[in-house]
Amino acid sequence: MTALQNDRFLRALRRQPVDRTPVWIMRQAGRYLPEYRATRARAGDFLKLCKTPELACEVTLQPLARFPLDAAILFSDILTIPDAMGLGLSIDEGVGPRLASPVRSQADVDRLGVPDPHDDLGYVCDAVRLIKRELGGRVPLIGFAGSPWTLATYMIEGGGGDHDFKRAKSWVYGETKALHQLLEVVTTSVISYLKAQREAGVDALMVFDTWGGALAAEAYRECSLQYMARIVSELGDAVPTILFTKGGGSWLESIADTGCSAVGLDWTVPPMEARRRIGHRVALQGNLDPAVLRAPIPVIEQEVAATLRAFGPAPGHIFNLGHGITPDINPEHVAALVAAVHRGV
Ligand code: CP3
Repeated sequence: MTALQNDRFLRALRRQPVDRTPVWIMRQAGRYLPEYRATRARAGDFLKLCKTPELACEVTLQPLARFPLDAAILFSDILTIPDAMGLGLSIDEGVGPRLASPVRSQADVDRLGVPDPHDDLGYVCDAVRLIKRELGGRVPLIGFAGSPWTLATYMIEGGGGDHDFKRAKSWVYGETKALHQLLEVVTTSVISYLKAQREAGVDALMVFDTWGGALAAEAYRECSLQYMARIVSELGDAVPTILFTKGGGSWLESIADTGCSAVGLDWTVPPMEARRRIGHRVALQGNLDPAVLRAPIPVIEQEVAATLRAFGPAPGHIFNLGHGITPDINPEHVAALVAAVHRGV
């Protein structure tokens, strides 16, 4: 294994001192980059991009060629698991993700099996190995999966169109047995998938619980948190783990209690309050409002400095946005953000 030349991100995850705050950006490889759009056009569609390790590797490295980021994130999608379960994923421009065979009944849940990460998802492991080779130890590589609840919402809804989650939430209150059976099979799948990414060489693992914040407090604990806690505990501490529940600001203490290495914060959480509530037992990742990237560069610089001040000088902060970067952002604004983080306060 090649030694890492830049381990700022991993040091911050372990709450060790760093020379400057590490930074990476959720969805850093994406449509705001013209070179991403060109590779995607060459691939034909988004899924082809994910399933062709050479192309997934190429787009993973694109943001690093432009900006001195402190981590790379595997280019893939959380919906590779439902796809590998045979639900028929398509992701079309302007439509978003769609599953051809959503899970609508107990019988549909009974038919689901755990995908083999080396076979059904072997293209992801191949991409990880290729990216690690191409990175040559420049920065660490983050692997990821969706949380069981977030994956279940897509599987039940059949897509991402309904942000009220009418079908998925009706399972929370009316189809408890089927829902928990679904969450069990997805949890087992996520664990074996993340272990396979780790064996293939990723340096840290992140779980995206994008829709956990749609749940009521007790339902969050039952349907999202307990399964993420199982994932963290099964993975152990061979590599650091980051849990990110968007809209999870009320539950930070419980998220930290899972034993994860870091808690991802969306922009609604004041960093000082997060630190006060969680203490220093985990690192914190976040949490600039992605909308700031639309402002003029001097405003971006001010907001970055304010965010760094709010997290304070103690070790254990990884700079990021509070959610993914959007396609309309000017890459020069991203360059200004990264430079401002590295300059510090
Ligand atoms: O961060 C990175 O650079 C790594 C790549 C990454 C993608 N998706 C690439 C992608 C990661 C980490 C994800 C995770 C993901 N996918 C999440 C959780 C993170 C989050 O943003 O909350 C979710 C909810 C999904 C499901 C999904 N996939 C959505 C909602 C979309 C967008 C649909 C659209 O057209 O806006 C996708 C597609 C997707 N995944 C794109 C990218 C770059 C855009 C597809 C394209 O190129 O057309």
